[in-house]
Amino acid sequence: MKKFLIALLSVGALLSGAAVAELENPGGIGGLESLRGNSELEATRPADEFKDFPKDQIVASSYVYQPPLIPHSIRNYEVSLNANKCLACHSWKNSKESGATKISVTHYVNREDAVLADVSPRRYFCLQCHVPQTDAKPLVKNEFESVDSLQ
Ligand code: HEC
Ligand code: HEC
Repeated sequence: MKKFLIALLSVGALLSGAAVAELENPGGIGGLESLRGNSELEATRPADEFKDFPKDQIVASSYVYQPPLIPHSIRNYEVSLNANKCLACHSWKNSKESGATKISVTHYVNREDAVLADVSPRRYFCLQCHVPQTDAKPLVKNEFESVDSLQ
C-alpha cells in the first residue's frame, strides 16, 4: 500500500511538472534556428530580397570540370516532366538560333557510358549542377582552395 502511494505521488509530481512547462511556453510555440536566421515556428518569415544575377562572369571557376555558373536570371524557367526551358536555348538544335552555349557532349552520355541521341536523363535537371552566379555571402565557412592551375 505504501509503495502504491509513493508511485501515485511521483506520477502527480511529473504531471504538475508538465503543467509548469506549458505555462512557460504558452501554446507550445517554439523557436526555429536555421542558416536563414531565427523565427517563431508559427510565424512566416518574409522572403529574402531577390538576388541580383550579373551578366558578366564574376565568380571564377574553383576546380577543373566544375559545372559553369549560369550568367543570367532563370526566374520562371520551367524544368519539369513536360517542359525544359533551358533546352529551348541550350540544346544543340536550338543553340544556333538562341546564341547560347550548347550543352557539351558529356550531357548525352548515360550512366552505362552509352552516347544517346538526346540529353541523358541524368543531365535533364540542369539546376542539380548549374546555379546562377551571384555575390551572396557563404552561409557556412569554407576553406576550399583552388588547384594551382586555376589560381
Ligand atoms: C532565352 C535563352 C536561354 C534560356 C532559356 C537559358 N539560357 Fe543559359 N544562356 C543563354 C545565353 C545566350 C548564354 C550565354 C551567356 C549570356 O549571354 O548570358 C547562356 C549561358 C549559360 C551558361 C554558361 C555557359 C558557359 O559556357 O559558361 C549556363 C551554365 C547556362 N546558361 C545554363 C542555363 C540553365 C540551367 C537554364 C535553365 C534554367 C538556362 N541556361 C536557360 C541563354 C539561355
Ligand atoms: C550532373 C551534373 C550536370 C547536369 C544535370 C547538367 N550539367 Fe551542364 N555541365 C556539367 C559539367 C560538369 C559541365 C562542365 C564539363 C562538361 O562540359 O561536361 C557542364 C557544362 C555545361 C555547359 C557548357 C558547355 C561548354 O561547352 O562549355 C552548358 C551550356 C551546360 N552545361 C548546360 C546545361 C543544361 C542546359 C543542362 C540541363 C539540360 C545541364 N547543363 C545539366 C554538369 C551538369
